[in-house]
Amino acid sequence: MLQNIDRIFEEAGRFRAGSREEIEQFRIKYLGKKGVIPALFDELRQLPAGEKKTTGQKINELKQFISGRIDEFMGRIAAESEVVSAADLTLPGPPLQPGARHPISIIRNQIIEIFSRIGFTISEGPEIEDDWHVFTALNFPPEHPAKDMQDTFFIGKDPDILLRTQTSSVQVHVLENQPPPIRTISPGRVFRNEAISARAHCIFHQVEGLYIDENVSFADLKQTLLYFAREMFGEEIATRLRPSYFPFTEPSAEMDISCQLCGGKGCNVCKYTGWLEILGCGMVDPNVLEFTGLDPEKYTGYAFGMGIERVAMLRYQIRDLRLYFENDLRFLEQFCSAY
Ligand code: DAH
Repeated sequence: MLQNIDRIFEEAGRFRAGSREEIEQFRIKYLGKKGVIPALFDELRQLPAGEKKTTGQKINELKQFISGRIDEFMGRIAAESEVVSAADLTLPGPPLQPGARHPISIIRNQIIEIFSRIGFTISEGPEIEDDWHVFTALNFPPEHPAKDMQDTFFIGKDPDILLRTQTSSVQVHVLENQPPPIRTISPGRVFRNEAISARAHCIFHQVEGLYIDENVSFADLKQTLLYFAREMFGEEIATRLRPSYFPFTEPSAEMDISCQLCGGKGCNVCKYTGWLEILGCGMVDPNVLEFTGLDPEKYTGYAFGMGIERVAMLRYQIRDLRLYFENDLRFLEQFCSAY
């Protein structure tokens, strides 16, 4: 029997396991209920008393040897599978796409920052407005074409409730609620009933500016806008004011900046004029001050309004307004998020 045990020792020693299944088969073969080791113990019982001790010890050694082999193979397989599956945890992770601000947000924030530096506060008004704040208090005559169904989105059947077509409406809220001196800008969304094209959209953004105090002059307006243009477009930029008309300002003007693409020489972007229109402005009409409860004899002021899409177009040379709303990542990813 001892010889038989030695033979089994050898046999078990030669065994090599490649998989968990093979180790399990090995275990069942030797240690399982009907396996080799229990059979040896059965045999042991029939041995004469004198041989039982040494043979029993030998069988126990064999049993331990086999258990040891099983542990050894299991350990090896566990170590191997770790090497295969574990990535190098010291490597940096895959890069995250941090995202970028929308160009409209970037330009809006820059405009706010530029005017904040010279003491302008920020004020906001509702997007759903009444006729008074958008038109009447801003000196639009009752039959003014801008109030037409063509331009204005009305809410339901009530002609008094509408989506604001201009952030100039915030002027009226501020003038009604705040005593001068007033120095504020109002960024916000506006809505117009326009067919969507490369040059027009039914939703866009404006920034309104308002300055009211005693002795405010057109020269103050001009200098403020020159400061803005230089901060936004660079020191080299040239500006000019052209006479214009808005119901709520008198006199009114539009400001052009020199075309950056051609340096003022003339190109297809500036339609060979060398100039690009950037905003509307003027001295607040005395009627507006009166409508909102201020004494036009005591106070004067200026106002201006610009389209954020327009400023962003000029800054980034964007040719099509629709790009702002399409959320195409190829477009959006081009803008950095400094602001
Ligand atoms: N609200 C005007 C528009 O939407 C822009 C504007 C022009 C605003 C002149 C002003 C201004 O405050 O003085 O076209």
